[in-house]
Amino acid sequence: MAHMKAVRIHAFGGPDVLQIEELSIPEPRKGEFLVKVQAAGVNPVDYKIREGKYPPVKEGDLPLIMGRDISGLIAASGSGTSDELKEGDAIYAMLAGKGGGYAEYALVAKEAARKPAAIDYVAAAATPLAGLTAWQGLFRYGKLEPGQRVLIHGGAGGVGHFAIQFAKAKGAFVITTAAKDDLDFVRSIGADEAINYKEQRFEEAVHDVDMVFDLIAGETQQRSFSVLKRGGVLVSTLTEPDQEKARAHGVRGLRYTVQENAADLDEIAQLIDDRKVKPKVGRIFTLNEAAKAQVCIAEGDIQGKVVLRISD
Ligand SMILES: NC(=O)c1ccc[n+]([C@@H]2O[C@H](COP(=O)([O-])OP(=O)(O)OC[C@H]3O[C@@H](n4cnc5c(N)ncnc54)[C@H](OP(=O)(O)O)[C@@H]3O)[C@@H](O)[C@H]2O)c1
Repeated sequence: MAHMKAVRIHAFGGPDVLQIEELSIPEPRKGEFLVKVQAAGVNPVDYKIREGKYPPVKEGDLPLIMGRDISGLIAASGSGTSDELKEGDAIYAMLAGKGGGYAEYALVAKEAARKPAAIDYVAAAATPLAGLTAWQGLFRYGKLEPGQRVLIHGGAGGVGHFAIQFAKAKGAFVITTAAKDDLDFVRSIGADEAINYKEQRFEEAVHDVDMVFDLIAGETQQRSFSVLKRGGVLVSTLTEPDQEKARAHGVRGLRYTVQENAADLDEIAQLIDDRKVKPKVGRIFTLNEAAKAQVCIAEGDIQGKVVLRISD
């Protein structure tokens, strides 16, 4: 049986629990495609899973191949796959399961969408989970409309840099917080106002926004209520906002979890192909360097995303 290289964990722990292994290439079942993975995105959830700090992934799910994001080429199909994709097509996807991306081959089903033609495989692998998080947070939960004002916390990161570009493409006025060295970057991708979160309290500079997109939580979230208009909304990827505080300010507050969604990825691909959105890849590693890549993302100080290049 043919084999592939993959990065698995057998136990939760530090970066040294990531093991590079030779495994059988999986067989696509009904409705599935086998993808030759060209690149895999690295997300903060990956090291949270590895550390055992992401509750949906439990001891019983181990051993687990890490990674939620891939780009690649369809190598084989199971029975009953949709006619929209076929062998040889280039796809990108946020994987529906709990992992499977840090590998030379991966299985996908309905979550796969056609890869944007305007970008390479590395940039495509940087996009699904962070892009979908930004898309769903802004538009499905925040219901951001043209002309509205949004404050995006953490605009230079993986989710934030997509959020700035999506909000701008929608016609919103975009304010963001970022570190000093990232201010030029966030302005270059469309932020109308950029605040150095280490030197200025954002609530002194920002007021009357329709939406706060919170990618930070903690006291950043607590301090965000006062910058919202009455009727506004605080949307967080991390913690459930305090409902009493939300009521006191006349706003709504919610937390959500990103869902894989090929139709959303098609809309994101269109924006990328129309050159309205460009994924930023801050660092590229190899599959053998998966541990280094996770340490790098956990330490921060990256503009945009971290990606594993798996095949040339
Ligand atoms: N609920 C979900 O479904 C979901 C989905 C995706 C992500 N998430 C979570 O959302 C968070 C953001 O994800 P990400 O991929 O964008 O992470 P990321 O790439 O690590 O980006 C975080 C950004 O926030 C900046 N930052 C740190 N502290 C800040 C502060 N106090 N104010 C403003 N900016 C600050 C960081 O910059 P520095 O260089 O200054 O540190 C970095 O640019 C993560 O915790 C992730 O786990 C949740």
